[in-house]
Amino acid sequence: MQINNSIAFVTGAGRGLGTHLVTRLLAEGAAKVYAGARDISRVSADWASDERVQLVTLDVTDPESVAAAAEIAADATILINNAGTLNFGGALDGAVEDYRLDLETNLFGVLNTSRAFTPHLIANAPAAIVNVASIVAFAPAGIMVGYSISKAAAHQYGQALRAELLGSGVQVSVAYPAQIDTEMLSGVDMDKASPASVAERIIAGVIAGERDIYPDDASSSLATLYAADPWSLEPLFLRTGE
Ligand SMILES: NC(=O)c1ccc[n+]([C@@H]2O[C@H](COP(=O)([O-])OP(=O)(O)OC[C@H]3O[C@@H](n4cnc5c(N)ncnc54)[C@H](OP(=O)(O)O)[C@@H]3O)[C@@H](O)[C@H]2O)c1
Repeated sequence: MQINNSIAFVTGAGRGLGTHLVTRLLAEGAAKVYAGARDISRVSADWASDERVQLVTLDVTDPESVAAAAEIAADATILINNAGTLNFGGALDGAVEDYRLDLETNLFGVLNTSRAFTPHLIANAPAAIVNVASIVAFAPAGIMVGYSISKAAAHQYGQALRAELLGSGVQVSVAYPAQIDTEMLSGVDMDKASPASVAERIIAGVIAGERDIYPDDASSSLATLYAADPWSLEPLFLRTGE
């Protein structure tokens, strides 16, 4: 999928990885980037005043907000489902409400935007949907079980989308990062990849047409372990972060 001259929509673009995805899309020659954020008045990224960027109010859990954003961005050729939430908690002690909140954003948010944008993407093909899942989609991290489950659900939703969109001109890529240095994991002390480098590798994966994107060194090593032995990640993730 060419990024040059593409028209992309990035959800959760106001901070964290989303901000860097917008930067990278612009650097690769995107003609226009719609930057979705729940509160566009708080977006302070360098690109906020770039004439190629249009800020769009978007809460991915609100179907009306999603429908309005899809109508504004009817010319989009790339949808990047980046918005996400993480609530900490284990299998026995995690609050059920927190499990629901993460599923609401990380699964149903992706479903809402994918369904709303797909008719436009098919009409504008060649096109792409890119979901930002997580390496914990393959085995749960013990301190974030509800989040891991929501990313496992997003992983399978991406697989289903890819199968349904075969032959439509819309490629579906799913990215599985390990830990990234953003606000999401600010309370967890471990090595983290820079969001700029993760964004660069995600966009490179989209250009290369990769189905599964492992956008940092930790996730690519873990994916190799997983491919050799699917049980290998479970003990590794038990009480650690991603
Ligand atoms: N950080 C990591 O270690 C890591 C690892 C693997 C995967 N990921 C995934 O990478 C993606 C980006 O995460 P991040 O690290 O950049 O986290 P972050 O810094 O916490 O940013 C999360 C972004 O998602 C947005 N968001 C949350 N709920 C939303 C909703 N209902 N509607 C629209 N936007 C919403 C936030 O917007 P507001 O500003 O409005 O809150 C924010 O822009 C997520 O899908 C995350 O699960 C992160």
